Amino acid sequence: MLDSRTREIVKSTVPLLESANTALTEHFYKRMFRDNPELKDVFNLSHQASGRQPAALFSAVLAYAKNIDNPAVLSSAVERIAQKHTGFSIQPEQYDIVGHHLLETIKELAPDAATPEVIDAWAQAYGALAGLFIGREEQLYQQSEQKDGGWRGYRNFVVKEKQVESELITSFLLAPEDGNTVANFLPGQYLNLHLVSPKLAHKETRQYSLCQAANGKDYRIAVKREPNGVASNFMHDEVHIGDTLQVLPPSGDFFMEVSADTPVVLISGGVGQTPMRAMLDQLIKHEHRANIHWLHACENGAQHAFKEHIQGLRQANANLTTHVWYREPGASDQPAEHYHAKGIMDLSQLKDSIANADAHYYFCGPLPFMAMVKETLFGWGISDDRLHYEVFGPHQSL
Ligand SMILES: Cc1cc2nc3c(=O)[nH]c(=O)nc-3n(C[C@H](O)[C@H](O)[C@H](O)COP(=O)(O)OP(=O)(O)OC[C@H]3O[C@@H](n4cnc5c(N)ncnc54)[C@H](O)[C@@H]3O)c2cc1C
Ligand code: HEM
Repeated sequence: MLDSRTREIVKSTVPLLESANTALTEHFYKRMFRDNPELKDVFNLSHQASGRQPAALFSAVLAYAKNIDNPAVLSSAVERIAQKHTGFSIQPEQYDIVGHHLLETIKELAPDAATPEVIDAWAQAYGALAGLFIGREEQLYQQSEQKDGGWRGYRNFVVKEKQVESELITSFLLAPEDGNTVANFLPGQYLNLHLVSPKLAHKETRQYSLCQAANGKDYRIAVKREPNGVASNFMHDEVHIGDTLQVLPPSGDFFMEVSADTPVVLISGGVGQTPMRAMLDQLIKHEHRANIHWLHACENGAQHAFKEHIQGLRQANANLTTHVWYREPGASDQPAEHYHAKGIMDLSQLKDSIANADAHYYFCGPLPFMAMVKETLFGWGISDDRLHYEVFGPHQSL
C-alpha cells in the first residue's frame, strides 16, 4: 500500500494530467516508439492511428490515480486489461519501459510541476499498478499453461480449412502442428493470432473470437475483411490451407457460463455473431433446457454468414428461436428464407418474448449497435449484471 503522502501527491496531479489529455498520450507514444521501436511489433498501430488504444491506456492510468485510495473499485477493469495483455504476451520487463516513458513524458510536458517529489510519487504509484497487472497476468499465463492441452506463449497451428462464410467473412479451422490436444475455453473468449510475414511491415497481433464450441482438438475463427485492414486482408488473401500461424492461448473476460435453466438471448450485428455462435453451439451441445433467442442483424443475404448452420440448429431444437434483420435485402434474398424483417434491428418488436428478468443477454457488434441494445434492455428494467458485451477493439463503455 502506498503511503498517504504519496497518494495525496498523485491525486493532486490528476487535474493537470487530465488537462494535457491527448498531448500527453501523443508525446508518450511518440517517444516510446522512437526509443523502443521494437514495441511497434507489439502494439496495434492502426489502433494507435485511430487514437482509441492510447486513450484507453491513459484513461486507465488516470482512473487508477483517482481511485488510488481504493484501487479495488477498478478490479473488473484490471481483469479486462490483464486478459487483453496476455493475448499480446506482455512481459514484466516491458512495464519498466512503459513506466520510464510515462515519467519522462510528465517531466517533459510539465517541467514545473514535475518536482522530484511528484516524480517519485508517480514512480511508486505506477510501480504498484504495474505490480497488479504483472501478478494477474502471471496467474493467467500459468492457468493457460496448466490446462489440459494448454500452453504458454506462441504455439504453431496449421490452417486445416478455409471456408467462405459470406461475401466478407471467411472462417479458418486451426489445428496444432504438434498434433496434441488444445485447451478448452469458455464461449465468448478469443484467440490472438500473431502474424509474421515479409508482406507485413510489422508483426501484427489481432484477436478473433472462437466461433464454435470447445472440442479439445481444433479452433475455428471467422474473419471479416475490413476496408484497408492490415490483418484481415492478409488473412483473406495470403493465408491458405496448410499454412502455419502463431497462436496464443484463448483469453478474454467476455464469456457465457449459465445453468441449463437460464434463458439466454444472443444478439449480434455483422461479424459480432462469432462469439455468439460459440455460445449457441455450446448451449446446444450441453442440451440447454431454457429458451434461447438468436437475434442477428446484417446488411443482406450475401453478407449473412453461418445462415444455414443457424437454420439447421433452429430446425433441430424447439427451444431455439431466431430473428434476423436485413438492412437492405438484395434481389436474391427473395423469398425471405433466412431473414424475418427488413431494416435495422428493432428489439421492441420482440419485447414480449425476450424481456425476461431471469435471462442473460450477450451482445456484440458495432459500438452504436451495442449502445442501442443496452439502452433498450436497460429501459425494460433488465439489470446491469445480466448484460454482457464485447467490443471488437480497445474497450469502451457503452
Ligand atoms: C476481443 C476481440 C474479438 C474480435 N473478434 C473478431 C472476430 O471474431 N472476427 C473479426 O473479423 N474481427 C474480430 N475482432 C477484430 C479484429 O481483431 C481486428 O481488429 C479486425 O480484423 C481488423 O483488423 P485489421 O488488421 O484488418 O484492421 P486494422 O489495420 O487494424 O484497421 C482497422 C480499421 O482501422 C482503419 N485504419 C487503419 N489504419 C488507419 C489509420 N492510419 N487511420 C485511420 N483508420 C485506420 C482501417 O481502415 C480499418 O477499417 C475482434 C477484436 C477483439 C478485440
Ligand atoms: C500500468 C501500465 C498499463 C496500463 C494502465 C495499460 C492499460 C491498457 C488498456 C486500458 C488497454 C486497452 C484494453 C482494452 O482494449 O480493453 C491496453 C491494451 C494494451 N496494452 Fe496496456 N497497459 C499498461 C501496460 C502495458 C505494457 C507494459 C505494454 C507492453 C509494452 C502494454 C501493451 C498493450 C497492448 C499491446 C494492448 C492492446 C493494444 C490494442 O488492442 O491496440 N500495456 N493497455
